[in-house]
Amino acid sequence: MFIYITRAVPEIVPQMLRSALPQARVEVNPHDRNLTHAEIATAARGADALVCTLADPVDAVLLQALAPPLRVVSTYAVGTNNIDLECAGRLGVRVCNTPGVLTDATAEVAVGLMLACARRFGEGERLTRAGRFEGWAPLFLRGQGVYGKTVGIVGAGRIGFRVARTMRKGFDCPILYTSRTPRPDWESELGARPAPLDDLLAQSDFVSLHCPLTPRTRHLIDAARLDLMKPTAVLVNTARGPVVDEAALADALRRGRIAGAGLDVYEHEPALAPGLANLDNVVVLPHLGSATVETRDEMGRMCAQAVIDVLSGREPAHAVA
Ligand code: GLV
Ligand code: GLV
Repeated sequence: MFIYITRAVPEIVPQMLRSALPQARVEVNPHDRNLTHAEIATAARGADALVCTLADPVDAVLLQALAPPLRVVSTYAVGTNNIDLECAGRLGVRVCNTPGVLTDATAEVAVGLMLACARRFGEGERLTRAGRFEGWAPLFLRGQGVYGKTVGIVGAGRIGFRVARTMRKGFDCPILYTSRTPRPDWESELGARPAPLDDLLAQSDFVSLHCPLTPRTRHLIDAARLDLMKPTAVLVNTARGPVVDEAALADALRRGRIAGAGLDVYEHEPALAPGLANLDNVVVLPHLGSATVETRDEMGRMCAQAVIDVLSGREPAHAVA
């Protein structure tokens, strides 16, 4: 049995694999970088299981090159947009992800970005660090308050709910949300109101994106939709970069069409849209949503367990294909 891991992961992963599957050869990408498509195809040839990350393009070409004998792709992520699930299904390759364990960590980053944008943490930090803080002044770096402002949540999944609850219970924010199905728990627990996306954009002071990336959500937030937002509004994206037309966003921020944006993900990650990083009204983070020690260990446990289950002939707990 051969298990290939495309990027160094917490030690718990190889440990669990070696202890549950002592006969298996577990190999980890030795480089401190993501592998190319061709490199994965070569390194993982003959693998029964592939542990990948969200940065790996696990497309039909790669899946067809590896299966058989490939039986399971276990991604170290909740998002599965980088994997051709339909092709995996057709080839009989199970695909497993890590839902639930990164909900709190990602919600923390979304809430943090809302606060950072509204209260101008990025500008203040850059200025202070550069030795340009010249003392308290009444008109200096005034932002906008968060308390009681309307928060619009796009995508009513686990992470969206956690963000909504934090903003509702912590900051008394009225919550609007989009969802394809009615969510009585959102209404009863948070007093949240469902709204069509365009209405949500027009009415929210903060818009936080929590939908998966699918063909339907690619460029969901484009120039026309940005134009619907209030000039004082802040857009936060901790979901997937391509949900936003990033060039249109950079333009809207440059023109002051919206007040700010907090981004943890990018359309052409790790590259940023030209000029984006030069704008003062954007807070940019390097995809840190799930990046806590606890969460990354939990993700590792789930990821390893999925491989162990499939290779032992058991149904994995979190399969998306
Ligand atoms: C992070 O972005 C993930 O999908 O786990
Ligand atoms: C992801 O785990 C989500 O459901 O938001």
